[in-house]
Amino acid sequence: MKTSGNSNGNIGVTSGSPCLPDPAREALAAYHARFGVAGTSDPVTVVWASGRINLIGEHTDYNQGWVLPVAVDRVVALAGQPIHGPKTFLYSTHHNEIASFFSDPWSLTDRRPGRLRFFARYVRAVLAQLVGIPGAARTPPFRAAIAGNVPVGGGMSSSAALEVAAATFAAALGGPALEPMATAQLCQRAEQAGVGVEVGIMDQAASCLGRPGSALLLDCRSLAYEYVPVNLPGIALAAFDTGVPRTLGASGYNDRTYECGEAVAWLTDAMRADEPERTVSALRDITADDLARYGATLPRTLLRRVRHVVSENARVGEAVAALRAGDAARLGELLYASHASLRDDYEVSCPELDAAVEIASRVEGVVGARLMGAGFGGSALMLVREEAVDALRARLAWEYRAATGRSGALHICHVAGGPQTVTMPPA
Ligand code: GLA
Repeated sequence: MKTSGNSNGNIGVTSGSPCLPDPAREALAAYHARFGVAGTSDPVTVVWASGRINLIGEHTDYNQGWVLPVAVDRVVALAGQPIHGPKTFLYSTHHNEIASFFSDPWSLTDRRPGRLRFFARYVRAVLAQLVGIPGAARTPPFRAAIAGNVPVGGGMSSSAALEVAAATFAAALGGPALEPMATAQLCQRAEQAGVGVEVGIMDQAASCLGRPGSALLLDCRSLAYEYVPVNLPGIALAAFDTGVPRTLGASGYNDRTYECGEAVAWLTDAMRADEPERTVSALRDITADDLARYGATLPRTLLRRVRHVVSENARVGEAVAALRAGDAARLGELLYASHASLRDDYEVSCPELDAAVEIASRVEGVVGARLMGAGFGGSALMLVREEAVDALRARLAWEYRAATGRSGALHICHVAGGPQTVTMPPA
């Protein structure tokens, strides 16, 4: 068995090691069960890519601000082989369904995905972006099985993990092999085109550039990044899935991106007389002083949106300082402040997320909690002392159901690395 990691040197499996993560094993078994062998001498390729937890920096990426996500040990895996023929076939273990589409460049770049299920739509969107690279190598049609343990619709970027896994799989089959950041950008475009949501770069960047033990501090304007060690001994990273499905397309996500653009236009206008030299191309350019000076000229709703983005960007900087100082208590305060801002100013929370954060905040040993990702459902991040995990789980099981009538799920996660590829001889 041969393995390779991304160019960060994140190599989690060594040659001959049997340690594939569970979803990779599941995808491999499902591939053999559903498709048998391709009848070629090509190796069976197995890839996996991580979902993410964003420590802080929410709804800042498309405002060209800063984010601080980690890739986690919840992955989406693909296992399969190239085939001869016009179509690509995908089997999803989650849906127990096979989907197929034509793999020639003309069909792939036809914008209408037809009635394809989302899992196939994301993979097809990635392949469509790859064929759009001038002079790029062609990815052959293939058959593959998909499995994963990133909660679907759970706010941990299962779709970004699938896109990054698909791009990694295509590269392993002889398609274009891009640098990690270029892969992230390509997958971001695939998500935008595939589901019509103007997502930022955070999720795909976290999945492509994750590093075990570190958070990714990413400047979403320049795309410069650095790694910040997550050194919080005795603290567990938990994601509480509220059980409220969040589909970005159906949410107010695009409304928020639009409102932020509106706010930039208003502020540019307001500043013109006093500061004619000033250029504001995104909310990232707005400071707390600007807000004090020009905020009153904005409509109330836009003022609240800007206040969130400006304060959240500042919290990212403070969170980095807290992490560097190993100050879990300060980091926790910043998480609660981020949640309040997302709930009150950005208005992307929901009763279930608020209930989960509130319940967690009353459990001894929880140092901080907040909604994570786009919001409108999905998951809340909770930082909790390891010895308090069982108490947190029990309290959530009881009080969350009593408050919302729903049952959620607490996932303990670990900081992981970028995408991985393993090749195996054909069976
Ligand atoms: C989703 C998007 C990201 C980011 C977050 C909010 O996860 O995919 O780009 O905008 O929401 O921070």
